Amino acid sequence: MKLKQLCLTGLAVTLLNFFAVAQTTNIITVKADKPYAEIQPTMWGVFFEDINLGADGGIYAELVKNRSFEFSKPLMGWKVEQNFFNEAAVTVLNRQGQNLANPRFARVTVNNSIAGTLSITNEGFRGMGIKKDLRYDFSVMYRQQTGNLKLHVEIIAGKNKILASGIVTTETTGETWKKQRISITANDTAQKAKMKIWFEGSGVIDMDMISLFPEDTWKKRPGGMRADMIQLLADMKPGFMRFPGGCIVEGFDLSERYKWKNTIGPIEERQLIINRWNYEFAHRPTPDYFQTFGLGFFEYFQLAEDIGASPLPILNCGMACQFNSAELVPLDQIDSYVQDAVDLIEFANGDANSKWGKVRADMGHPDPFNLKMLGIGNENWGPQYIERLQIFQKAIKEKYPNIKLVTSSGTDPNGERFDFLNGELRKMKVDIIDEHFYRRPEWFFENASRYDNYDRNGAKIFAGEYAGQSDKTVSVENKNNVRTAIAEAAFLTGLERNADVVVMASYAPLFAHVDGWQWTPDLIWVDNLRSAGTVNYQVQKLFATNKGTNAVPILFNNKILSGQDGLYASAVTDKNSKEIIIKIVNSSAAEKTTSYIIEGYKKLAPQATVAVLTGGAEEINTVNNPFNVMPVVSSTAVKGKKVDVVLKPFSFTVIKVGIK
Ligand code: AHR
Repeated sequence: MKLKQLCLTGLAVTLLNFFAVAQTTNIITVKADKPYAEIQPTMWGVFFEDINLGADGGIYAELVKNRSFEFSKPLMGWKVEQNFFNEAAVTVLNRQGQNLANPRFARVTVNNSIAGTLSITNEGFRGMGIKKDLRYDFSVMYRQQTGNLKLHVEIIAGKNKILASGIVTTETTGETWKKQRISITANDTAQKAKMKIWFEGSGVIDMDMISLFPEDTWKKRPGGMRADMIQLLADMKPGFMRFPGGCIVEGFDLSERYKWKNTIGPIEERQLIINRWNYEFAHRPTPDYFQTFGLGFFEYFQLAEDIGASPLPILNCGMACQFNSAELVPLDQIDSYVQDAVDLIEFANGDANSKWGKVRADMGHPDPFNLKMLGIGNENWGPQYIERLQIFQKAIKEKYPNIKLVTSSGTDPNGERFDFLNGELRKMKVDIIDEHFYRRPEWFFENASRYDNYDRNGAKIFAGEYAGQSDKTVSVENKNNVRTAIAEAAFLTGLERNADVVVMASYAPLFAHVDGWQWTPDLIWVDNLRSAGTVNYQVQKLFATNKGTNAVPILFNNKILSGQDGLYASAVTDKNSKEIIIKIVNSSAAEKTTSYIIEGYKKLAPQATVAVLTGGAEEINTVNNPFNVMPVVSSTAVKGKKVDVVLKPFSFTVIKVGIK
């Protein structure tokens, strides 16, 4: 290197050092003894919708797709193979007159069949994820008029590698349906296996509800949920769980709306409907997306209970999706919709002797589910929504005055549509208004103070759906990167600071299958075997697991810290763990030197813990690299009442100080 160059480099380093040393310290004051709002136990929750293969092909651990032949194309997902051509070897019968909920079944006619003669193979949801040494439980409902048959069940990987096999020997049952089960254990792991059933012998057999479940479901419940996915939810310690959507509540038209009563009871009696995400986006068609309701309202309530979340069901308000058909139920015919809402409260909370409480008890949950809130309508808008909501509000409050109603402010958090709804809802003195934010990262920074000037006495706010869009809403280019996560974190400090107004918040959508998604970004991505919390998930988890009990002022130059020098902050105390918890976002590309003066307590613990989430703006977590961007925890000295922390560029930091 030439001398001149060396000198210039030296000068640059000196200048850099000078600026580093000269960088001013941001002095931030936490008034820890001045709690002004309680953090509601519900504050940070999850919003589940069956989108992106969230339920079928997602948390519902069923591996067989189209298990009861009810998809629009009855053999979708199934492949029939036979050696000797027989047109009628596999037919689909429809007994709609007798069984409206589960009309179709497959009839297989078998003639002197041996290996290779006749088989049906199910491809699973983008394949079947199979794990070595794990048990798989196969079951089938069948009836057999005549014959002597063996069903050879095989889990197959690649061209023909048999991972597990077993035999179901059937018997003649006449007109009676019988359920038969076998369990088989896999000798290897595969991401995209299939299940083949080949027939031995001769006879005619009717088959329905052909099912394969892994043993390792959540809480080992037979026919249950995918444990790795649910564990990620449980790890967030969510305060509430909203279900089942989202737009699927509304449906393309009213015939496709979510009807909770069709999702309970024996699974073979739950009437399948198409999932509106099947065809919603022409650029992401998912023709095999249906709702079997193996996962229904009982299971959602049970899941909420399992993960310690308050259940928040959302019901159709008599309006189909206004982006789609915009069908309305006439006001004089809305009674059955209202009755569904009233009955749901009894289903969740009623005595085991009440009509709907008994249904719950008979399903195995005699104790109430402790429902405290109910959503009426998803993203509905306009005077049509208000006039329907008024009918629901009157009927529900008359019978159940303590149930809090969650109401819609439409699709966007501003504009004429929002202003109209916001005004009307407040006139109606509704309990909780649901606001949605699918916006660019800049918007989240700019709106971190959104709630600072909200009415403190009126309706509470549920920030029910938010997600930073790295490109734009419904763009397939959106990424769950550090940039969006940090922007969301800045916005969330504003929610936490306004905990007297904002009582609930959730990211949306929750899950996405890497091979079956319609909408991105999403909080958790999965394939058939693995799941990954995104950087956005890490933000949610940091908030939810450091929720605290009371918001306290955190000030910079005696003002709320929301954007000055690129910093956004909130602070809470936790009266149970006896901690002060500071959350701070550094949105700038430079390090920030900060010093926190904690007022109000004589003695603080000598060490603070500091969890830092940071990374390159475009970095992401994936199923292949799930822990790429994770919080890194360290500790730092507390000097009297002061904690010094250098905030990394583009970071979210949680500082916890114990109160002695
Ligand atoms: O989260 C995806 C969709 O976004 C939800 O179904 C709907 O409520 C919103 O428009």
